[in-house]
Amino acid sequence: MKLKITNLTKHTGVKVENFDCSKRISSDIFLDIKNLIQEKHFICFKSQSIDEESLVNFTRNFGNLETYPEKDKTKGKIEIFNVSNISSEGIHLNEEDPRVVLQKNNSRWHTDSSYRYYPALFSILYGKEVLPRVASGGQTQFSNMLLAYENLPESKKRLLEPLHQVHSYNDIRRIEPSLPELSYEEKSNFPPVTHPVIRVHPDRQNKKSLFFTSNTSLEIGGMSLKEGRDLHSWLVNYVQNPKFCYTHQWEPNDLIMWDNRVLLHRVIPYNYTKFRRAMIRGTVEGTSPVFGPFSNI
Ligand SMILES: [Fe+2]
Repeated sequence: MKLKITNLTKHTGVKVENFDCSKRISSDIFLDIKNLIQEKHFICFKSQSIDEESLVNFTRNFGNLETYPEKDKTKGKIEIFNVSNISSEGIHLNEEDPRVVLQKNNSRWHTDSSYRYYPALFSILYGKEVLPRVASGGQTQFSNMLLAYENLPESKKRLLEPLHQVHSYNDIRRIEPSLPELSYEEKSNFPPVTHPVIRVHPDRQNKKSLFFTSNTSLEIGGMSLKEGRDLHSWLVNYVQNPKFCYTHQWEPNDLIMWDNRVLLHRVIPYNYTKFRRAMIRGTVEGTSPVFGPFSNI
């Protein structure tokens, strides 16, 4: 069997229309998917019918699954992360509910699990309930950090090269203060980590990309608070340039998969009270720390 593939943009994303992700995958298809994700960083598998179990099984093809840091606050299966303003019992949650506040935080550019020393490799997200096409927002937008790095002025590359950002799960509370405190155990299991702002990719002939997030901190280290915040805002503004981006307009039963080493993503804010949006995510654990220009690779 051959995958039927359509490019979504020149630089990022393909659509696959003839593969059922709930079935066992052959070694040929596995290799095709691995090559596609390496080259195009994003795949949308159309017309899927996925439950938690089949999502876990499909995700497991690509590595070990992450489990969520907060003890069972948002999900059923421990390997499934609910990206949803709907409770696991199907109730549309109000905007102040911490589970919805976390969804709002997802509208800031990020990669999944940057707060881990080994951040997530792939995320695989299934749209159970998506916004109607006429609604404003709800899309997932991606920005290609290889391309963003390539297009940086040389002076900016030099400035960013030695810098790190602090990524801290607990610091989501600094950005979204209404969230309830983490337990001592939850905090201790996920202490802050730092990652280089310029990322080196050993499996791409040491090509470089940008690597920063805005959902766990809004500063860059190694400079004064003001300079760090100003630089961070500059980066946020820079990566949303449409020439680096692909915006995924969800259709029911889309299953999307992306490479967190290359793409930042965010949800475009929507009316959380008016619309239901329910997605489940399986996340493939990273297999190495983030390498920077001064790492011993
Ligand atoms: Fe995310």
